[in-house]
Parts: sequence; structure tokens; C-alpha cells
Amino acid sequence: MFPVRRMRRSRSRNIQPILRQTRIHLSDLIVPLFVDHALDKPSPISSMPGQMRYPVSSMREVAEEVSDKGLSAVLLFGIPKSKDDAANAAYDENGVVQQAVRQIKKAVPGMVVISDVCACEYTSHGHCGIVGETRNGTDLLNDPSLDLMNRIATSHAEAGADIVAPSCMLDGMVASIRTALDDRGFGETLIMSYSTKFASAFYGPFREAADSGFSFGDRTTYQIDPANRREAVLESELDLAEGADILMVKPAGLYLDILAEIATLGLPVAGYQVSGEYAMIKAAAERGWIAERAAALESLTCLKRAGADLIITYFARDAAGWLVEEQ
Ligand code: PBG
Repeated sequence: MFPVRRMRRSRSRNIQPILRQTRIHLSDLIVPLFVDHALDKPSPISSMPGQMRYPVSSMREVAEEVSDKGLSAVLLFGIPKSKDDAANAAYDENGVVQQAVRQIKKAVPGMVVISDVCACEYTSHGHCGIVGETRNGTDLLNDPSLDLMNRIATSHAEAGADIVAPSCMLDGMVASIRTALDDRGFGETLIMSYSTKFASAFYGPFREAADSGFSFGDRTTYQIDPANRREAVLESELDLAEGADILMVKPAGLYLDILAEIATLGLPVAGYQVSGEYAMIKAAAERGWIAERAAALESLTCLKRAGADLIITYFARDAAGWLVEEQ
């Protein structure tokens, strides 16, 4: 006890760095990228300052830039030329994500390419799969949408994706995709499941970025109620049992209690710092209300401390530069 126990002794400037308990490595960070089939040059996303939609033709350059920064993984979202009720463009072998995967792999063969597997950017109604009539009105149909996810996932694997990442929150999606991949000879493709994904207001800016807003309803009939801790953990346990290789908590920053619990299940876990979390820091920083670099690095460090092995963040490229400077 005081005065023998003095906690401040360990906080002097030269001692503090050697006692740091949590460090972010460049290999922890995953860079989300939006690829738009209708573009011929990059176009800024106004709701996410600093982020762009890229044309397929930019992928070489972007992959090289990501790799030069010391980062090794990207997560791709596609915006197709045209949308329809059945998300046909999502599994087209010359679709936007399929082409982007091939371009990235050509430019940087060692890059870990992860593809978002969902239909919301490809459907005219904006929901994550096939929609139809249910007892409770028009809604996302679970089992009829699974075949669509199988097709999307296998077409991404065929293009060369290392990891497919289903984000549609359908029951049985991991088992279904695992079987489809194995049946077609893609036994080595990993599945990173958006296993614990909440129905969150913090996806708002993403829906502009990926043009995936919905024409009716919302996503509360398939994403988890933010109030439900046990249900959130069970969702990840089920995906583990279905054969997922990597679990995910999304959003991450407001759900650190969940992240910490899911990190004990035994599989690697990714924390997704979503568009709204990014936009809040950016907007406050633009007004001079918050120090961007410190706030961003603090937010990422806390995800790691809570148990995230991987961090998906729109700050990834900036953070890579900051982390190298701080070493
Ligand atoms: C669905 C998907 C969403 C995000 C990633 N994948 C949106 C949603 O569920 O409505 C959100 C990511 C973010 O906000 O950064 N394909």
C-alpha cells in the first residue's frame, strides 16, 4: 500500500512503452474497399470522408498502395452496374467483385483477399437476399436465399478470394456455404462469418457508400437486437459449429462486452469498426472537437484489448502510417 505501491512509477515516459499490454500489428488490420462497376475513376464517399469508391481499373494501384503500407488484407464490397430482385450480378463471373479479386491477386499475389458475401448491394429492394411473402408480411426469405449465397461465395472463391465473408445473417449460411465450397473443390477457402451482427444505426454511412439502403422495412428481422447479449453469443457459437474459420462482432466499438465473450470461444475473432463509428470520429475531428489520430488509434487499441485478433477499419491505411511512425 501507499507509499510503497506507487502506480505512477510505471508511467514515466521511458518505462511506459515497455509495459504496454496491447499492441496493434499491421497484420491485424483489414482494409475495406468499395468497388463500383459503373465508375472509370475513383469517387469520394461524402458520408465517409477520406474513403472512395474505386473502379475495377484502380485495383492494381490500390493493392500496391495497401501492400506498400505494410498491410496484408482487404475486404471487398461491390456495387454492380444494375440491380434486380434476384441479385443476378452478384454471382456473375465477370461481376465487379470477381474482377476486382483477379486484379488484386495479379498485382499482389500474397494479398489476403476477403469478399463480402451478401446481396444487399445487388437487389433492387436492398435486402440481403430473396424477398417474399411471409406470415408477417413481405420479408427476407431464409432458406431460398441460401442457394444465392452459395453461388456468390463459390464465384468469389473461383475468382481467387482467400476468404469469403457472409454478412447476410441468414440461419444456416455458414453450413450451406461450407458445403457448397467443398463440393466445388474450394476446400481451402476460409469462411469469416459476420457471426454476431447487430441491427445497428451505425451502418448509416455505409448504405450511401455501398448503395445498399432498402426500399421498405429494415433489417431487424434478421440482424440481432442490440439489447441481447446471450443471443449475440449464441449466434457466434452456432457459426463455429457450422464450420466458420473466423468469427466477427459488428459493430465492434459499442459491443466490447460481446467481443470479449466471443474471443473466448476458441476461434479467431474480427472486430468491425463500422462506417458510423468512423464517421463520428471524422466529423468531430473536422470540427476540431476531437484529435483524429489519437481518437482513432485509441478506438482500435480498445478493440484489440477486448480480444479482437483482426480489426476491420476504414482507418486502416492511415493507422498503418501512424503505427509505423510510433515505433
Ligand atoms: C451487408 C453489410 C453492411 C455492412 C457491411 N456488410 C450493411 C448492413 O448490414 O446494412 C456495414 C458496414 C459498415 O457500416 O461499415 N452487406
